[in-house]
Amino acid sequence: MFASSRAAVRQVASKQVGINVPLRAASVWAKVPQGPPDAILGITEAYKADSHPEKINLGVGAYRDDKGKPYVLPSVRSAEKKVVDAALNKEYAGITGVPEFTKAAARLAYGSDSPVIQEDRVAVTQSISGTGALRIGGAFLERFYPGGKTIYIPTPSWANHNAVFKDSGLRVEKYRYYNKDTIGLDFEGMVEDIKNMPKGSIVLLHACAHNPTGVDPTEDQWRSISDAVKEGGHYPFFDMAYQGFASGDTAKDAFALRHFISEGHRPCLAQSFAKNMGLYGERVGAFSIVCESTEEKKRIDSQIKILVRPLYSNPPVHGARIASEILNDSALNQQWLGEVKGMADRIIKMRALLKENLEKLGSKHDWSHITSQIGMFAYTGLTAEQMDKLAKEYSVYATKDGRISVAGITSDNVRRLAEAIYKVKG
Ligand SMILES: Cc1ncc(COP(=O)(O)O)c(C=O)c1O
Repeated sequence: MFASSRAAVRQVASKQVGINVPLRAASVWAKVPQGPPDAILGITEAYKADSHPEKINLGVGAYRDDKGKPYVLPSVRSAEKKVVDAALNKEYAGITGVPEFTKAAARLAYGSDSPVIQEDRVAVTQSISGTGALRIGGAFLERFYPGGKTIYIPTPSWANHNAVFKDSGLRVEKYRYYNKDTIGLDFEGMVEDIKNMPKGSIVLLHACAHNPTGVDPTEDQWRSISDAVKEGGHYPFFDMAYQGFASGDTAKDAFALRHFISEGHRPCLAQSFAKNMGLYGERVGAFSIVCESTEEKKRIDSQIKILVRPLYSNPPVHGARIASEILNDSALNQQWLGEVKGMADRIIKMRALLKENLEKLGSKHDWSHITSQIGMFAYTGLTAEQMDKLAKEYSVYATKDGRISVAGITSDNVRRLAEAIYKVKG
């Protein structure tokens, strides 16, 4: 119909000009507007184009070793070798992925001794890393959540949260989180906003290592947040993209999630193995829902399958097999835990060195937020103009909101970085 009506238009048009030449029809996509470039990619491009021999890229959200190089964990290398040596076939996984992986991922998050694991009431599916887990979660809530379809995310939040949940069909609202005056948590504002949300709202919580601020609630504050979520009859959705990567201890980083469960909440959870296993491009993640019973879990499982099937049928197997080896082989698991701690410790050390260097230079500002924040990112408190100056005059690249990826700091560049920050901020 569409094609034949186009042909008719062309015939009429060619009669009008009197010759039989095919006219060039307007493209179907003529009205598609140019989208803005990705903020992080723009930084990487500017960094690449800079010829300064000591340029520094603090934009990317990926771990770098102390020489500034991408890092493949030795435990990942060993696990991958085991997977390859096993010469497994390349058949499809089930819709919910590699079962040995998903079971182990749930144990890692909730704890092997958690009642929700012991009582077999966690519905879990493999996902395309953390983003995919959030997307499945958004779609599931949009389809089945009986309360209002509004999800509240912190201000600020990971830049992709808004788009992921909007594209899932949820309404996205914000709650207060970061206080720019203290460069810390706006705890009172956060709790007040949670209490004032319409009853039964969905609340997105960063389980640890909040991105982009690096500001996490203390354990006591988490207890009050759990109470506020309960008081409001809200539904908690945890995003845990950095388990182990924040403190170096996977159980400590799961405190908030596990505390909520001990308080009777039944949250859902997005997990990513991009950072803690350095499996960025392998896209290994899991989405899970804590259920009331095994019977409920079975119903939820069946609906997750119905939801995933038309999205991508089933997830890729290679990365999940690697993660499964690491989580299920006790020697490899111990090795991995040591390596995660090594990454976390290097980041913690770089925070301390940056602060120390700024103080040595004579900066009169209070830089304690650099060491009290946690995870891959630090919110420096620098303004957009100061960040611009850092890039233009000192070849130090990061996002305009003042966020720096601490993973991009090394023993070799930390002094130069501190000098640059000191020069733009004092
Ligand atoms: C808070 C948060 N959630 C989710 C993700 C998802 O990452 P991925 O899809 O690579 O696992 C990230 C990555 O930076 C993140 O920071």
